[in-house]
Amino acid sequence: MIVNGRPIDDDPRPGQCLRTFLREQGWTGVKKGCDAGDCGACTVHLDGTPVHSCLFPAIRAAGREVTTIEGLTLDQLALHPVQDAFLAAQGFQCGFCTAGMIMTTAALTDEQRADLPRALKGNICRCTGYGSIRDAIEGKPRVKTDTIMVNGPVVPAIGQSVPAPAGPDVVTGKAQFTADIGRVSAAASEDADAPPTAPLHLKLLRSPHAHAWISSIDAADAMRLPGVVAVLSYEDSPAAKFSTARHHNADDDPYDTLVLDRTVRFIGQRVAAVVAETVGLAEAACRLITVDYEALPAVTDPVSAMAPGAPLLHPAPSVTPCGDPSPYPAGAGNVCTEIHREAGDAEAGFAAADAVYSATFRTQRVQHVALETHTTIGWRDGTGRLVLRTSTQVPFLIRDEVCRVFGLAKDLVRVVAKRVGGGFGGKQEMLTEDIVALAVLRTGRPVQLELTREEEFTAATTRHPMEVTVTLGATGDGTLTGLALDVTADTGAYGNHGPGVLFHAIEEAVTAYRCRNKRVAARAVYTNTVPAGAFRGYGLSQTVFAVESAIDELARALSVDPAQFRRRNLIQPGEALSNGSGEAEDVSTESIGVLDCLDLVEKALADGRGLAAPDGWATGTGIAVAMLDTIPPGGHLGRSRVAERPDGKYAAFVGTAEFGNGTSTVHRQLVADVLGCEAADVLVFSSDTDRSGHDTGAYGSTGIAVAGTATVRAALALADAIAARAASGADARDGKLLEAEGYCDGTSRSVAFTVQGFRVAVCAATGEIRVLQSVQAVDAGTVLNPVQLRGQVEGGVAQALGAALFESVVVDRAGRVVTRVLREYHVPVLADLPRTEVLFASTVDPFGPFGAKPMSEAPFNPVAPALANAVRDATGVRFTSLPLRRDTVYTTLQARAASQRATSQEE
Ligand code: FES
Ligand code: FES
Repeated sequence: MIVNGRPIDDDPRPGQCLRTFLREQGWTGVKKGCDAGDCGACTVHLDGTPVHSCLFPAIRAAGREVTTIEGLTLDQLALHPVQDAFLAAQGFQCGFCTAGMIMTTAALTDEQRADLPRALKGNICRCTGYGSIRDAIEGKPRVKTDTIMVNGPVVPAIGQSVPAPAGPDVVTGKAQFTADIGRVSAAASEDADAPPTAPLHLKLLRSPHAHAWISSIDAADAMRLPGVVAVLSYEDSPAAKFSTARHHNADDDPYDTLVLDRTVRFIGQRVAAVVAETVGLAEAACRLITVDYEALPAVTDPVSAMAPGAPLLHPAPSVTPCGDPSPYPAGAGNVCTEIHREAGDAEAGFAAADAVYSATFRTQRVQHVALETHTTIGWRDGTGRLVLRTSTQVPFLIRDEVCRVFGLAKDLVRVVAKRVGGGFGGKQEMLTEDIVALAVLRTGRPVQLELTREEEFTAATTRHPMEVTVTLGATGDGTLTGLALDVTADTGAYGNHGPGVLFHAIEEAVTAYRCRNKRVAARAVYTNTVPAGAFRGYGLSQTVFAVESAIDELARALSVDPAQFRRRNLIQPGEALSNGSGEAEDVSTESIGVLDCLDLVEKALADGRGLAAPDGWATGTGIAVAMLDTIPPGGHLGRSRVAERPDGKYAAFVGTAEFGNGTSTVHRQLVADVLGCEAADVLVFSSDTDRSGHDTGAYGSTGIAVAGTATVRAALALADAIAARAASGADARDGKLLEAEGYCDGTSRSVAFTVQGFRVAVCAATGEIRVLQSVQAVDAGTVLNPVQLRGQVEGGVAQALGAALFESVVVDRAGRVVTRVLREYHVPVLADLPRTEVLFASTVDPFGPFGAKPMSEAPFNPVAPALANAVRDATGVRFTSLPLRRDTVYTTLQARAASQRATSQEE
């Protein structure tokens, strides 16, 4: 075949798909987001026609012209018009889908462009919500094109829509994600952080049992397979327990996990690891391993798990590495952790109310579906240090735990993330790094592990499913008198993020409203199912769905406008927060902008912008509010270093990670603003444990609030040093280049708000919900980069709409994940989503850099209740479970209609 104009001599292996063949030939712009033709990340042109190369046999491309994203660029200086358009509209975030999007778009006819929902039905983007992609294709730039020349943007100011510095690499397929450096050695790679030789491949044999004891493992047949280098089992595992969840304080999570455990607690848990010369060999060897299991009784839902006499998943109490009892003593009733609080007297509050509303709400298990799956490549460098190149949000926390588990000094391990293809909290876990470290230490050779999409569903983490009972009482004028929450979260087989998610779930959902009488009871429960973990919103979306739905119902019961009800009861600027514990919270509420947000959304809905409803469909509007504390309460540190460069520019070394959240762009702006240079003159290097001081990492929406503050402080310190040097009469040409460090301890917390509004139409005959208008107003403080913030909000709303309307990881009664491929899961494509109008309240945060508040997670949280409230307004039916799939809506509406008919006949 001819690839990008060059003839290829190699023959593909029997059965090899075009995607893997092209990647092996070095065309790593061809990405892998699935294995089944569902995501479009692998799109290439075959004789000018776009194909999903993962579905196309490489042998059938013989004699044909193949074009990848690398071949789309006409020459070194001129991008393809579609690449230009994606840059101008910033039609990407993490960039993992972008090459496929561009390849599909570049082949569209005018007629196809006129029907984008159909034209892009084979391409998934998990980050953007498609707003900027649609703009790119429709030729609507979001940034000034003359600011995005190859050398980077030239607009250096806070509040400017500076484009992402990685943009040119993203749209040309040059951006290197972890797996992209795996096929070659450092000598052959342009990337200095590549392994010294092409890596071996690791595959995992996984448990078919929900709960079992491994009696024996026989790997003799597997080891006899030529090309198999090692088989690792529980006998090879370090004895140190850990949590896959990574937090600033490791004791935040129970120590309940081993690299390879002799007890398996969910279908899909690691049983053995095979290291071999190729992926195919490693998979074949997994099939040759004989494992004898002693099956144990399993519990696959929280009610069974908490029943008297239920089998215990973790009968031994968790202890910290110091030998202290963990705060999460597993045992009784499989309860991983529980929280009970009461301030005032909730029952008295309900007794004093003119109306009380109580209902139980249920949220489902959903998956992050970051388009890049978890991937790690490990090796020993020339000095013998262990290097892990990995797709993580938390490089320093990975390094620290790998060191503890394997007994290594911190200076003997380096963790590098570089570009990460989406995270959403799912990469705040150690799911691949530990087993790769074990394999490298055992074999002495570079080793790569790339999870498949099926493994992401069956063995990575999900959002915690929750059952939330809300009881609210209020007087006739709409004043809340009592608020009670009872929450049960299913944390799955391990307690990673179980305590943190539970804590967060009952925090801002409760503190957002003033009420003297509050009561909370909550528990996270172990079950023999795939573990839950961190996911954008961190538990809050589940409880906000319940509370904001209940607020809506209570307001209706009192004949009070739901928005007015919220205005009356929402926390006001300067008021103290109360989470029901009776303890004062160290969180500033001075900058609250929620009332502005409510005004903006109400006005937008009243203006009736958006689509017209189809004839005969019921229509309605709904709003919901969510609050977010700006920094996690458990501690979060940021450290940055800013240095002069010999070329007169500046380098910023930041510990936080870039995974499409835009931090590298904003850090560039922060440094430029402080040092008075152009943003293009600041190069940002992130996520490398060798290049900056310890940083807790990119979670909890801290990339700007904490890491950005550290960067501003480093830049200020450097500015002072430069001024001092100038005062002494010297300059950079006279001597050594200056650098300075900045630190943020993450203790100054405030709150941010998001308010979502929807206008929907609902078809009773089919159950379809069509979003006619979507608007979100955000209390984001100073808007550092309007285009990036808009993109974050659009993406958050889109991801939340997917979870509200379609997405569900289905687990059967035996504990087996049934949803194993993307097409069964229904990540929204462009056709599924409305445009979301994004509005900014006018606020300034007292602590964030230049007054900015975080806005990575917050846009997700109010979406599901706003949608449910709009559907309630349209249909009169309160839906209390997610997702609001067509079949559910249809059967519910039909049942209600039948009941109404029966009642009218009786009358
Ligand atoms: Fe080919 Fe997903 S990797 S469609
Ligand atoms: Fe599309 Fe991340 S930018 S998947």
